[in-house]
Amino acid sequence: MKSKTVYVCQNCGASNPRWSGKCPSCGEWNTMVEEAQVKKTATEERRFAAITGTNIVGKARPVLLTEVEQESQERIFTGIQELDRVLGGGIMRGSITLVGGDPGIGKSTLMLQMCSHLQAIHPLYVTGEESLQQIKSRAGRLGLDFTNLSVLSETNADDIVLAMKNTDAGVIIADSIQTLFRPDIESAPGSVAQVRESAALLMQAAKALNKPVFLVGHVTKEGNIAGPKVLEHIVDTVLQFEGERIYSYRILRAAKNRFGSTNEIGVFEMSEDGLREVANPSEVFLSQRNAEESGTAVTAAMEGTRPILIEVQALVTPSSYNQPQRSATGLDYRRLQMIIAVLEKRLGMNLGHHDVFVNIAGGLKLDDPAIDLGVAAAIVSSFRDIAIPADMVLIGEIGLTGEVRAVVSVEQRVSEAQKLGFTSVIVPQAVMKRLPKNLAITIKPADRILKALMDVFGSER
Ligand code: TYD
Ligand code: MG
Repeated sequence: MKSKTVYVCQNCGASNPRWSGKCPSCGEWNTMVEEAQVKKTATEERRFAAITGTNIVGKARPVLLTEVEQESQERIFTGIQELDRVLGGGIMRGSITLVGGDPGIGKSTLMLQMCSHLQAIHPLYVTGEESLQQIKSRAGRLGLDFTNLSVLSETNADDIVLAMKNTDAGVIIADSIQTLFRPDIESAPGSVAQVRESAALLMQAAKALNKPVFLVGHVTKEGNIAGPKVLEHIVDTVLQFEGERIYSYRILRAAKNRFGSTNEIGVFEMSEDGLREVANPSEVFLSQRNAEESGTAVTAAMEGTRPILIEVQALVTPSSYNQPQRSATGLDYRRLQMIIAVLEKRLGMNLGHHDVFVNIAGGLKLDDPAIDLGVAAAIVSSFRDIAIPADMVLIGEIGLTGEVRAVVSVEQRVSEAQKLGFTSVIVPQAVMKRLPKNLAITIKPADRILKALMDVFGSER
C-alpha cells in the first residue's frame, strides 16, 4: 500500500499537498492537519468488495435504463411520530442517516428509544463511546422493551460491516462516527480521513445489504457535523438534534433529506425517563408565558407543515453606551435590525438610545418572516411598557415601507390560534380573501404596521 502525506482541512475536507495556515478552499484558519493519504490498491478494493458484498471490482457494465430496478420506496416506521415525520415518513430501506447534535443533547437516547420501537427487525446498536454497561443502564432508565436489541462494542468499521453482514440485524446504529476507524487508513480516529472513509464504507454496506444505518455525530461549535462537511455529501439524510441546555425541549430537524422535505421538525421533551414526544408544541412553547407583562407577543410560525404558536419576548431599555446594543436570539439579527429601522423611520420611534433584546422563547430558531409583526409589537410593547392583549396573535411580514405583507399558510396559522383559545388575530390585509368567513376568532386585517399596532394598543396611544 502506497501512502504519501497530504494536508486535509478538518472543516471542509479539502486536501492540499502543502500546509497553509488558512484553508485555500473554505478559508478557515488553522484547520489543515497532516494526514496520510491512502491510495486504494486493487487488492484493497477487492477486500472492500468482499466486506460489503458488492461487486464493484471488474469492468463497468452499462445496463438499459428500463432494466434498472426502481429504488424501493418501502419505509420502516419507527413508531416515534416526531422522528418518522422528520425522516419523511419513516426510515427508507438501505439508507444512511447522520444524527448530529451537541454532546449531551440526547442523540444516544433518541437512537436507543428508536431501537426499542424497532424490535421486530432486530436492531443492532454499535457503541464506540460508551461501555455496554452504560448502554444497559440507560436502557433500564428508559424502562422500555429491549428484548431483541443486540449491542456491540466496536470501533473498527470493517468489523462493524462484517457484523451487519453476518447477523440478521435489520437496522444498525453506530454511535459515534468520530470513534470509528478503518485499519487501512493511517490517520487517527476522528480525523477527516477516518470519519469520511468509515462513513463511506458503512454507506456502501447499507446499500449493498439493504439495511438502514444511523450514524451518530457530534457537532463542532461552529455547528458543522464534526469537522467534515464531506460527511453530509456521503449520507442520504442529515438530522440535527437541537435544544438549549437550560430548556428540556429538543428539536429534531432535517438539514438534508434525499427522501423527504427538510422543513419538518420533531419536538421532544427530555424527561426523567427519556424523550417524550410533544404532540402539541404550541402549548409547550407558550406554557411559561406571562401575558400581563409588557414586551411579550404571540405569533404563529410555520415549521414544515405544522403551525406553531410561539412567544416573542422583547426588552427595550435606555442604553448606557453610545452605541446601543441589539441582540437577537432565535431569529435573524439582520431581520431584527430591519424591523427596528422600520419602527424608527415609519413610526417615528426613537430607539437610537435604547438597547433592544429580542428572544424567541423556548429555544426555537425561526426564519419565518411571518413573525415580523409579533417582533415589532413586542418591541413597541416593551418600549411603551404596555402589555399586548393576552388573547391576541400577530401574523405578518413587515416590508421596508412599513407595509404588512402577505404570508403563506395563513389559514393553518389562524386555526392553530383558534384551537389554543386565542380570540383575536391580526393578519395581513392581502390574505383576507384566503380566510373562510364566519370564523369563531376575530380577524383584524392590517395593511400598514401603524394600523396593526393601533389594533394592538388602541388608537389613543
Ligand atoms: P445522551 O443521549 O447521552 O446525549 P448525547 O448522546 O447526544 O451525548 O443524553 C444525555 C443527557 O440526557 C444527559 O445529560 C442525561 C439526560 N437524560 C435524561 O434527562 N433522561 C433520560 O432518561 C436519559 C436517558 C438521559
Ligand atoms: Mg451519546
